[in-house]
Order: sequence, then C-alpha cells, then structure tokens
Amino acid sequence: MNLQYEVITADAMVHLDRVFTAEGSPNIAFIKYWGKRNDKLVLPYNSSISMTFAHEAMRTVTSILFTKKLKNDVFYLDGQKQNLENKDTAERFAVLDILRSAAKTEAKALVVSKNYFPTASGLASSASGIATLVFAANAALEIGLNEKEMSIIARQGSGSACRSLFGGIVVWKAGKRTDGKDSFALQVFERDYWPEIVDNIVVVSQDKKKTPSRLGMRQTVNTNPLFGVRTLSAERRLKLFKESYRRRDISGIAAHMMADSNEMHALMLSTVPSIRYLNPISYSLMDAVEELNENEGKIIAGYTFDAGPNANIVTVNKYQKKVMDMLKQFKEKGSVIYIKTSRVGDGPKLLGAEYSMINEDMLRPR
Ligand code: PMV
Repeated sequence: MNLQYEVITADAMVHLDRVFTAEGSPNIAFIKYWGKRNDKLVLPYNSSISMTFAHEAMRTVTSILFTKKLKNDVFYLDGQKQNLENKDTAERFAVLDILRSAAKTEAKALVVSKNYFPTASGLASSASGIATLVFAANAALEIGLNEKEMSIIARQGSGSACRSLFGGIVVWKAGKRTDGKDSFALQVFERDYWPEIVDNIVVVSQDKKKTPSRLGMRQTVNTNPLFGVRTLSAERRLKLFKESYRRRDISGIAAHMMADSNEMHALMLSTVPSIRYLNPISYSLMDAVEELNENEGKIIAGYTFDAGPNANIVTVNKYQKKVMDMLKQFKEKGSVIYIKTSRVGDGPKLLGAEYSMINEDMLRPR
C-alpha cells in the first residue's frame, strides 16, 4: 500500500490513507483555570493566561492517517498501543468525532504520538497531545479551520489544550454562552514581544497524579464555598498580569503568578475531600524563590505549579544565572530529577513526510 496515495471517494476532500504529521508543545498557565461551568463542553468559570513552550524544549509529535481499512480508531502513545475503551482516553479522543462530523466522514484514524517529556506528570502532556492531534487532523481532513475554531474543539478534549493552538502568550476566554462558542483561545502577545522571558521547568516527580484534574475540578465546584471568590479573583488578576506583561515587568508578572498558583492550591486543599498535588520539595522550592527575591530586595523570579508537584520558575535572562545557582543546591541534594528551560514558543506546525511515525504493520488487524 502506498501511504502517500490519495483516494478520491465520496468523502470529498478528505485525504484518505495519507499520513499527516504535526508537532506542538504544552503551555504553562500563569493565571489558572480550575472549575468548569459545563463539564461536557469544558466551559470554565474564569479566563486563564499561559505561555506556550518552545518546541525545542518540550514537544509532542503526532502522525495521523484516516482510512476506511480500520474498523475502529487505533492510538499508539510513546510506542504503546492505548486502550480507547479507557474512559479518560475516550473522552479526550472525542475531539476526533467532532472533526469527523465537520468533515462528513466516518473514516477511522490511526494516530501515533510521541511526547518528548514525561506523560501525565503535571507537565500538561494532554494539552500538547490534544492540540497537536486537532491540528494534524484538521489538515488530514481538509476542514480548513483556523486556530480559534480549532481551539474550541481542542478545549473539549482537555481545557488547557485550547491554549496550545497558539504560540506566544495566550488567553483562554471563559465566555458566557451555554453552547461554548465564545469560549476560545487567542494570542495576546507574540512570541517575540518579550524575548528575555525564560521558564525553568523543575521536575521533582514523574509519578502519575493521584486525582485526575476533571474529577478534582468537579469536587472543588461542588464542595468548596470559596469557589465563587476564586472566579472573581482570577479574572481581576488576569487583567493585572496582562498589564505587567505589556510593561515587560518581571516583578509584576512573577508576583501575580505566585499569588495565583497559591490561590489555586489553597482552593484544592480546602476541597472535600482535600486535594493536594504539592510535595515537600515543591514547598522548599517556593521558599527558595522567595528567599532569592528577598536577598535581591525585589522580585526577580516567580513560581507556579499545575496539578502536580513540579515547579515552573519564571525569570528573565538577566537573573537566570541566579535562579540556576539556587536550583543547583536542589540538584546536588538529589531532590530535583531534571530541569528543562524553555523560552516562549510557537503554536503547532506541520512536519514533512519524513517525520511520519506510521508503518503499515500498525494497520494490520491483530
Ligand atoms: O487541561 P485540564 O482540563 O486537564 O486542566 C488543567 C488545569 C491546570 O493545569 C491545573 C491549570 C491550567 O489552567 O492549565
């Protein structure tokens, strides 16, 4: 079988039996989302803002092929065939059904994906995985969606994924509508608006998280009386964060991101049952960043933590050496597994045919 051959069928413009490969990267939110007003459509209560990582630092590469030869979708992640009956995986893969219905095709997909960072360790692998999948499928199905439209679909696989459809600094607007049409991502600062920004991803654990974020968010919304306050506070802080970023003010953005991370983790802690993602090393890292700022007499770096114990420590070129010197002690004690440094990066892009990870063996029934 020639995988490059395009079969013209009733599926009008759909590229059947042709492999499309794309790469995309995760993002880290500085003002975070935690809580949905609609679980199925993945509509958040508050807007959020993030930076997309550079592909050189962290990326997902995904090859996709739509074909009539398969009875069901097939998915390989990091060399392992995945069970698409698994509820979590199936919910995320539902984005393919949305895309298929837009393309008016029932062709099944073979998806082969590889993460160049640990999966499910709080490093937003689902964000880059789903954003890259939607991007590659949009090309393969010839639907011609723009980034905003793709972000609306990606959002339904994993909320934070919608922000990875864009490079630079990205806002996910919460929106108000019940159909979710005004809940999408958009770029608010280009990649090169402030090139001095660096994020140090400090990996302290590669364990799978105990509480999946979907479940955790539901518990927070249902049990936490502080939740209403959080929604208003996050919206207010997002405006302040954007203003500081516009001024290229490291002290401002660092202060807002630390306050927001602490507020989200306090909300998780006070949920019933209590959700705790941080570990003792996370707290030591928070202490160390605060000590560094105190010694400097001003805020030169900020931390933020997602649904996991790994830290993101943000600074600018000028102070990066000080941050790395501070992190050296953690490395020497063996409490940090590795550190990855990333600049602000681009959104997903298509790769040439030579990057295809699909082989004909994967199409054979077994
Ligand atoms: O993308 P989800 O639905 O798994 O949620 C992730 C939420 C946080 O990473 C904790 C915060 C955020 O805004 O990215």
